[in-house]
Amino acid sequence: MSGKIYPVDPAFAAKARVTGEQYESLYAESVSDPENFWRRIGGRVDWIAPFSQVKDVSFDADDLHIRWYHDGVLNVSANCLDRHLTHRGDKTAIIFEGDDPNDSRHITYRELHADVCRAANLLRNLGVVKGDRVAIYLPMIPEAAVAMLACARIGAVHSVVFGGFSPDSLAGRIADSQVKLVITADEGLRGGKKVPLKANVDEALTRPGTTSVETVLVVKRTGAPVAMQTPRDRWWGALVAGQSAECAPEPVGAEDPLFILYTSGSTGKPKGVLHTSGGYLVYASYTHELVFDLRDDDVYWCTADVGWVTGHSYVVYGPLANGATTLMFEGVPNWPDTSRFWQVVDKHKVTLFYTAPTAIRALMREGEEPVRKASRASLRLLGSVGEPINPEAWEWYHRVVGDGRCPIVDTWWQTETGGILITPLAGAIDAKPGSATKPFFGIKPAIVDTNGQVQEGACEGNLILTDSWPGQMRTVYGDHQRFVETYFKTYPGAYFTGDGARRDADGYYWITGRVDDVINVSGHRIGTAEVESALVAHPKVAEAAVVGCPHDIKGQGIYAYVTLKAGEAPSDALRKELIAWVRKEIGPIASPDFLQWAPSLPKTRSGKIMRRILRKIAENAPDQLGDTSTLADPSVVANLVDERLIR
Ligand code: PRX
Repeated sequence: MSGKIYPVDPAFAAKARVTGEQYESLYAESVSDPENFWRRIGGRVDWIAPFSQVKDVSFDADDLHIRWYHDGVLNVSANCLDRHLTHRGDKTAIIFEGDDPNDSRHITYRELHADVCRAANLLRNLGVVKGDRVAIYLPMIPEAAVAMLACARIGAVHSVVFGGFSPDSLAGRIADSQVKLVITADEGLRGGKKVPLKANVDEALTRPGTTSVETVLVVKRTGAPVAMQTPRDRWWGALVAGQSAECAPEPVGAEDPLFILYTSGSTGKPKGVLHTSGGYLVYASYTHELVFDLRDDDVYWCTADVGWVTGHSYVVYGPLANGATTLMFEGVPNWPDTSRFWQVVDKHKVTLFYTAPTAIRALMREGEEPVRKASRASLRLLGSVGEPINPEAWEWYHRVVGDGRCPIVDTWWQTETGGILITPLAGAIDAKPGSATKPFFGIKPAIVDTNGQVQEGACEGNLILTDSWPGQMRTVYGDHQRFVETYFKTYPGAYFTGDGARRDADGYYWITGRVDDVINVSGHRIGTAEVESALVAHPKVAEAAVVGCPHDIKGQGIYAYVTLKAGEAPSDALRKELIAWVRKEIGPIASPDFLQWAPSLPKTRSGKIMRRILRKIAENAPDQLGDTSTLADPSVVANLVDERLIR
């Protein structure tokens, strides 16, 4: 089970930022003397007032606190912009590649600095002050990065909401953090299709709890007519144009919040993951530089949307803090055709390319021709993120996309971790397809068995982290207790990742997937509880249980069991209606792939749904149901097995 090995390419290693020997010695130092290690690395950021404290952390649930560099003062936007102006002012900061292949442009650091200053001045003039929350609900256009950096410049806290989320999901996020201002666009544009962003905001703001919003700024993207409500709604373009291109950066404490990003958990509503300023920036920029072996002349492209953490750390903050050229892509991999990614690579001479296994699997299905049509000669390193990459997809990525000459970094991390934690460094660590390999500097993973005992050597179990790193989330916004309960109660003294993992005899980590009630659909986290509550909100539904199932392209699909209210009859029309209902309630990414009618659900005598059984039925493994004798009514299982939708 140790898998095939792809050794480090000596030619790559000869020029790499980190070699094998350096990895070993730096890793040893980083975990034995984190204080000194991170003191040195903290110097990569420009501080307005230097830090004297480095690490102040306790993972003890009764005294949980995580602080890094906490007496330091900085400004994140100044680190991403101002400090590059002297030497890199005319370097391209952002390459924008629009949905339409004829729509692209370059924005230099100097231009981006001016754009961010204007936007920051605008926010200030609209009454946004340090600590206020601003929601960003935009497509992948440069204004999204400008809006994030403008918030950072004045110390406001952004909450980016993925443009694919529904008005209800947006409203929930706005209400949870009492957002003062929303930045959106008239419409989004993806794969030639329009997304009614402004109309969604209008609808969201009719929901309870959203009256904190005073202003909605609207970026003109498609020029479609949209309803503007005065005085609430204002056009971004006209207002920013009138602002000064200079804006003094606000001094911000290292532990002041930078952003909130909502993510699904196993229970309840999405949690507002809170990241702070100093440690986050140190960690995002440091990992970006080393994991991607960054050089000044690289053209770096991460295909993630800014609505996800990958877009925060590795489209915007990491690359810009490093003075890199980062590509923002508005479109999708298969439009106008399935060669689009590789056309973009050739067009902009992309050297570093970072995408998700789901995209690789979808493109793999189209064969090699669409890839081979493009030269891809500029590529020198490939990355993967979001879910386990199956070895077949890894091999194809390596052989076809990278022509067998580009190393692959399979990077494991989470919204909560702020940056990459387990990954190969291409010049230092031999790759094994399907394994995220070894911990990054300062990261102490451990594997525990079902009793919570830390295991040694080759083993399999739940993945925990026994020490902190600067990019770690600090709290759940507005609910610190939930932070403690979710991550620090299961295994006292450690952070629980929610993932299972195996460690092989070479000390390589293989992430096996979520061990909680979270489904990883195309690299996006969906809480089963969220889909269930959307389903039961439908007037005809009595009860619902949702589990993950295998899916060739998405990695995992959503499998829903639905019990209708008495008197309601199952039908294909109702099935379609319920799937559309979930789409509307949460967003297209949460649409069930399978919906099975369940006359009743398997429950314990205390009324708890036995998901283990439902998961096995959805996996088409009815012979592995295990013990069903503890069910209140074991006979319900036979019907569900007979009617299962995957065979
Ligand atoms: O299960 C792991 C999976 O994605 C989860 C984190 O999802 P999210 O917070 O949305 O962040 C995604 C981007 C960082 C993890 O708990 N995951 C992420 N990367 C990998 C992965 N599983 C296996 N291998 C990876 N490289």
